Amino acid sequence: PLIEPVPALPALYAAVGFAIFAFLAALYLVPALGPTFIRANLKGRDLLKTYDTPIPESQGLVCASIYILLLILFIPYAFSESITNHHDTPKHAREGIVVNEFPHHQLAVYLSSLLSLLMATMLGFLDDVFDIRWRHKLPIPIIASIPLLIVYYSERGATDVVVPLPLRWLLGTLINLGPLYYVYMSLLSTFCTNSINILAGINGSEVSQAAVIALSIILNDLLFLPWAFGFRIPLPLHVTDGVRVGGVWSAGMAYGSKILVERHLFSLYFMLPLLGVCLGFMYHNWYPARAFPGDTLCYVTGMAFAVVGIQGHYSKTLLLFFLPQIFNFLLSCPQLFGLVPCPRHRVPRFDPETQLLYPSRAEFKEKRPSALASLALRVFSALRLVELTLDDRTGEIAQTTNLTILNVFLLRFGPMREDSLTRVLIATQVCGSLVAFFVRYGLAGLVYDG
Ligand code: UD1
Ligand code: MG
Repeated sequence: PLIEPVPALPALYAAVGFAIFAFLAALYLVPALGPTFIRANLKGRDLLKTYDTPIPESQGLVCASIYILLLILFIPYAFSESITNHHDTPKHAREGIVVNEFPHHQLAVYLSSLLSLLMATMLGFLDDVFDIRWRHKLPIPIIASIPLLIVYYSERGATDVVVPLPLRWLLGTLINLGPLYYVYMSLLSTFCTNSINILAGINGSEVSQAAVIALSIILNDLLFLPWAFGFRIPLPLHVTDGVRVGGVWSAGMAYGSKILVERHLFSLYFMLPLLGVCLGFMYHNWYPARAFPGDTLCYVTGMAFAVVGIQGHYSKTLLLFFLPQIFNFLLSCPQLFGLVPCPRHRVPRFDPETQLLYPSRAEFKEKRPSALASLALRVFSALRLVELTLDDRTGEIAQTTNLTILNVFLLRFGPMREDSLTRVLIATQVCGSLVAFFVRYGLAGLVYDG
């Protein structure tokens, strides 16, 4: 009974067209604008090569511009149904009856998302130009997420989480996190933007992470539009952030509801062109890179993921697509929070003789490792995530390999070429997404009732 008329899908086909256009535009414009970037002194040296040729840096700005302009051009398509179905007759107008009200709320969702993306672009570009210290740039995505949160709030946004079965005796079926849920969502935007940026430094790494995550989100969205393909997959929908109908918790009946379809359509409108632009850019960023993404690309893609996760009400599923980034962030914490020295670049070490990459190292120089730092490093070392060098005389830790997932790959699989390392990273990201789908649609059934 709750199955409402399905929103029209033509806009979805238009979004596919926009994605193809985004791909072609990035493919053409990135090399075409390269010399302009170099002239503006936006250039970098490829740290893992023998040559010194300046490579245009922060060309994520080109991607962000294409992406945001296309999203703006897409607005009439996204609302085409409301525009064409305006059936109000003069009689209706006289009597003040609204037949087909314009979905102002959805427009607010769309515009606040654009605002956040613009903030992310600005922050990313400023970071490229001025190299902002990361302590200073951390709070900006939090502020940038406020418009999203207000729109989320205005749409009777659920702040309760469904409690897993084993904990129900203690906590009940639902717990309302209230304001804490908003804190969590604003931290999500900081996490998504920065976690891609710190898993970087080898050709193709930043953009390929973004491409795989975008593709995973697209596949997940498509699961919620079964009629588009003429088949239905029974989904454990109780796990989605609930849909409240008339104030009653109605998670189980969300299946096929119009609101759920609209949310995932919105997410597709934002993810399809992002995937297009990423694939176009990846062609030029692939080993040996002829263009660098800069922080702009990391911030825009990260913010786009946070936006669709929040506005689409699937932030927990979204985090599952970030498993390699979560791992890399947790591993990086001792360096990020100053326990272990953090060099400006933590990229692997390139050996020109063998043309292979080796784990890079951080050295304790004047400062001796604190007890906490030693403990963390020894735990990591026991897990074979780092390789330590001890001081001959004192037995203290003198050196450690940098705490990044890229170095972990090199420790585990041995030295390899730069493009092989990027392939390992992509394969890991894909495996992470497979695990995510399994957890979301397989395991969830065990932990939540259906
Ligand atoms: C983050 C990382 C840093 C890593 C850097 C590489 C943390 C805390 N910071 O810093 O360890 O070294 O990204 O992007 O983890 N570059 C290459 N090849 C590439 C991409 C980049 O050599 O494929 C080099 C270029 O010199 C480029 C520079 O990295 O100019 C860009 O670094 P930037 O993005 O400014 O570094 P951060 O994001 O601050
Ligand atoms: Mg960066």
